[in-house]
Amino acid sequence: MCGIFAYLNYCVPRTRKEIFELLVKGLMRLEYRGYDSAGIAVDGDKNTTKDNNQDIVLIKKKGKVKALDEELYKKDCMNLEAVLGTHFGIAHTRWATHGEPNAINSHPHRSDKNNEFVVIHNGIITNYKELKKYLNSKGYEFESETDTEVIPKLIKYVYDNRERDDLSFSTLVERVIQQLEGAFALVFKSRYFPGEAVATRRGSPLLIGVRSQHELSAEHIPIQYNNMGGGGGCKLHNRPEDSSTAVSVTGDGKGMEYYFASDASAIIEHTNKVIYLEDDDIAAVVSGKLSIHRLNRQAGEDPVRAIQTLQMELQEIMKGNFEAFMQKEIFEQPESVFNTMRGRICFETNKVVLGGLKDHLKEIKRCRRLIVIGCGTSFHAAVATRQILEELTELPVMVELASDFLDRNTPVFRDDVCFYISQSGETADTLMALRYCKERGALTVGVTNTVGSSICRETDCGVHINAGPEIGVASTKAYTSQFVSLIMFGLMMSEDRISLQGRRLEIINGLRTLPDMIKKVLALDKNIKSIADELYEQKSLLVMGRGFNYATCLEGALKIKEITYMHSEGILAGELKHGPLALIDKDMPVIMIIMRDACYTKCQNALQQVTARSGRPIILCCQDDPEVSKNAYKTIGLPQTVDCLQGILSVIPLQLMSFHLAVLRGFDVDCPRNLAKSVTVE
Ligand code: F6R
Repeated sequence: MCGIFAYLNYCVPRTRKEIFELLVKGLMRLEYRGYDSAGIAVDGDKNTTKDNNQDIVLIKKKGKVKALDEELYKKDCMNLEAVLGTHFGIAHTRWATHGEPNAINSHPHRSDKNNEFVVIHNGIITNYKELKKYLNSKGYEFESETDTEVIPKLIKYVYDNRERDDLSFSTLVERVIQQLEGAFALVFKSRYFPGEAVATRRGSPLLIGVRSQHELSAEHIPIQYNNMGGGGGCKLHNRPEDSSTAVSVTGDGKGMEYYFASDASAIIEHTNKVIYLEDDDIAAVVSGKLSIHRLNRQAGEDPVRAIQTLQMELQEIMKGNFEAFMQKEIFEQPESVFNTMRGRICFETNKVVLGGLKDHLKEIKRCRRLIVIGCGTSFHAAVATRQILEELTELPVMVELASDFLDRNTPVFRDDVCFYISQSGETADTLMALRYCKERGALTVGVTNTVGSSICRETDCGVHINAGPEIGVASTKAYTSQFVSLIMFGLMMSEDRISLQGRRLEIINGLRTLPDMIKKVLALDKNIKSIADELYEQKSLLVMGRGFNYATCLEGALKIKEITYMHSEGILAGELKHGPLALIDKDMPVIMIIMRDACYTKCQNALQQVTARSGRPIILCCQDDPEVSKNAYKTIGLPQTVDCLQGILSVIPLQLMSFHLAVLRGFDVDCPRNLAKSVTVE
């Protein structure tokens, strides 16, 4: 988790105040990745005598980025109007994994009291204890409880023990990362290399935005390889120094600005030209010129990194008139599901084509089974579509929570097709499950919302759900777009099945009207708010249903617990008699989902059981259902669509309900406590 942001200006005069503002804004965009403390490192005013380098100033603060922002202006030793022609500043917003949230544990971490090397990190260093022990034995003292702190200490150790004085900054970093195990995106700054930046990653996302005062003269950065063997061990070869071979995308590097970030939302307002780093890439900026190098070239590896043009608009990531990103994202669903379908479903011919899968369709059709893997909400999208995928593909479909799938060492075979559902495309458990299945030869398919994410890159093929950036920590529009994407996959698989044409047509027609139906559900917001007004002081809220709507119960309960902190459980109505019925009495709030589908009668039985125990159910049902309504304490009447799509409509009232409950309870909807948007640790 954690968000990384850094900014380098080379021969582009910026006041210190402008730099502060830029760094803070970058962090605010990334705050959804973690928000328990934040910090920056910038150059100070004083010139030191030593090597004529500038001092590095670290400012760190517990709490959200806003707290850091206020802290910056309290440092009266720093001249805010000072113009810095060339400068490199790094910034970090943290979600604690090792060590409690406080200023000491927050990033940037430093090599020593003189701040010779400072670093920001997203990820987790699994061998930090061994490294710390070694560095301690060499006299390096630690101040925090974090895993990260071994990194600046290690680079100082490598620097202190260098065999030549002219080693480049990136060579030092290269030596450091060979000692690291785990996942990381890192950006380094050093007083020995003023105005230089080095960034690298393995397993955690990192991209570089490039902005130039001149026309960019290159579309890609060629990778430089050492090809000198090595790898592992502290005594490494010397890489040929790279500043002479660095690629300049603008001639002499003057007028260049570089933005390093965990994701594009922090960069897009500055530039739409970005480079996604691959695992073990080491990117360095020296004299305004960017170079990327790796140790050895692997067979089949792409020898360049493209400078890509992002299509994302800034307004897509702004809150607009809504109170919270989550609310905005709930209300965006008519457009986001439309965007998921756009260009993929032809409503005239009833053809469905997912471009990223079409070359693999034959192989998928020959497979032994489909395994659909995800975490949290993404897993619920798999649960929601399992039944219709079984029906349309006529294949066995397993749905798996990534962590449990790995814990069980689940048998996977070459003729399995494994889907990875992930909004961020970076969830560590899902990514591990992907690597696990890849090693066993299965075909891997990504279903993600983040172009260029690790899951996108590492899968054999995939579907981009096109929901647009999702900033609220609680996932909403990504769920409905994942749902639609998986249904489209089922439709694509069943195109040549004569017996399924009637069903396909019914679903395609349902998809055509889906955006309008979602608008109708959103229009119920006031009604839902008034129910929330009654419920918000309760401790618990049960959500019950079955069949196509069981996933809605799981997802609704997850939304409620994660942002309102109420106890909430999604209960399969078929299991009611096997335990949960004991919870029911007149005081226990229960939401029941009873739609006119194959489970209608069974759901009515459950309703009888609840009312017989004096339960007072709030029922999500089809509009004009007097039979169900007469037994309800309250009803929320939804437009009816095809059974397998109904879950897209029935989840929206629960998204809205959780939003209103959280606001009424006084919580920050977009930043629920203890949670982060992108879970990049196992
Ligand atoms: C809940 C939520 C999480 C994520 C889960 C997987 O609202 O957002 O449960 O769904 O952490 O994240 P992704 O989809 O990014 O893999």
